[in-house]
Amino acid sequence: MSEAKEFDVIIWGATGFTGRLVAEYYLKQYGVNGDLKWAMAGRSQSKLEQVRAELGNNDVPMVVADSHNRKSLDSLVNRTKVICTTVGPYAKYGSELVAACVENGTDYCDLAGEMQWINRMIAAHHQQAQQKGVRIVHCCGFDSIPSDLGVYFLQQQAKQQKGDYCHTVKMRVYGAKGGFSGGTYDSLNNLLIEAQQDAEVRKQLHNPYSLNPEGEQSGQDKGELRSVKYDPDAESWIAPFVMEGINARVVRRSHALAGYPYGKQFQYSEASMTGPGFGGRVKAVINWLVTGALTAGKPGSFYRRQLERFLPKPGEGPSAEEREAGFFNLRFIGLTNDGEKITAKVTGDRDPGYGSTSKMLGEAAACLSLDQASTPDVSGVLTPSVALGDTLLHRLEKNAGLKFTLR
Ligand SMILES: NC(=O)c1ccc[n+]([C@@H]2O[C@H](COP(=O)([O-])OP(=O)(O)OC[C@H]3O[C@@H](n4cnc5c(N)ncnc54)[C@H](OP(=O)(O)O)[C@@H]3O)[C@@H](O)[C@H]2O)c1
Repeated sequence: MSEAKEFDVIIWGATGFTGRLVAEYYLKQYGVNGDLKWAMAGRSQSKLEQVRAELGNNDVPMVVADSHNRKSLDSLVNRTKVICTTVGPYAKYGSELVAACVENGTDYCDLAGEMQWINRMIAAHHQQAQQKGVRIVHCCGFDSIPSDLGVYFLQQQAKQQKGDYCHTVKMRVYGAKGGFSGGTYDSLNNLLIEAQQDAEVRKQLHNPYSLNPEGEQSGQDKGELRSVKYDPDAESWIAPFVMEGINARVVRRSHALAGYPYGKQFQYSEASMTGPGFGGRVKAVINWLVTGALTAGKPGSFYRRQLERFLPKPGEGPSAEEREAGFFNLRFIGLTNDGEKITAKVTGDRDPGYGSTSKMLGEAAACLSLDQASTPDVSGVLTPSVALGDTLLHRLEKNAGLKFTLR
């Protein structure tokens, strides 16, 4: 949206664990009253003041809004070109904000990984957002920017170097180190509760194409990896990767929104690599058991209550040292129609979920706000690669510690 607004970006949820990291990143990267005009927003003036004091800069503008009052949200979104929100679980707190953005013509990005809620937003707002020229971009964190832009990058390279797009891309997590926050657990738990209560959500969880446009929700992919196996293309044993559920659906939506450039036969999957031989197989089984333990048991059951005693609470997450020591290293193995293999590598210099995610989200918001002239002319409920493409990729490499290379 191009009309003059008081701010380029408002960070909604700046008092939470991840929102505060986005604010910290903006202060360091863009300062105050610089080229990017931004503000922190939340529902509590005193909490915002506390965060601002901890950031050590009293000039950062603050906005207080009431998330349960639509007028208050309208007035919030009208002050900025872009809303960047970390208020989750999005399925609980996010719907009115998206509606306010679409109706008031404000671009939007978030960290939602909640497939069932994104589906609702697509159904409710995709058409209207297209009519109004608004860009709603979900999944702008570790899920699902590296996957979405990783495939985008690999396919551009395959076209340039091999003359054709890959019919299959396999994302394999070569290495990653990090933790997770109470807010992320809360969002995962809320998805499990909704799936328990609602048959429609369960149906969506079983359809790997559930984020595709209506009438286009089928294809070659059969669903997520559920056990361990040997992957000859990766030359490694592989185990289920917990983010595959959302990342792979985002990649498939990108492909559909782009008009199926890689062909209707295109297949995509994600998994964790654990190495070759007997050692790799043992690691894959351990990896699988740990992933399974996080999602096992019904919400509220004795097992989950015991598990929750050891997990972070809302507002808590990995320490600064843990974020600093974290990283991710992803491989994208592409197979061409000529039987050739091409592999890309995507790396990040902080823990995936918070240190890197806060920079990715911040740059996605900056890109929406400042780079309209160089980003695709599209609108609707979009994915990061479709909305922001190369421009975001270059920003992430320049500012956010990500690297996209061929191996
Ligand atoms: N995709 C990714 O890679 C990724 C990575 C990290 C996080 N996330 C997602 O980001 C979200 C936030 O995670 P987090 O760990 O930062 O959570 P958190 O620390 O619990 O923060 C949640 C924020 O939401 C605010 N909030 C809660 N209810 C609200 C309401 N009714 N109105 C207005 N604000 C409200 C809280 O405000 P108060 O401070 O006033 O309570 C706080 O600022 C989660 O959904 C998580 O899954 C995704």
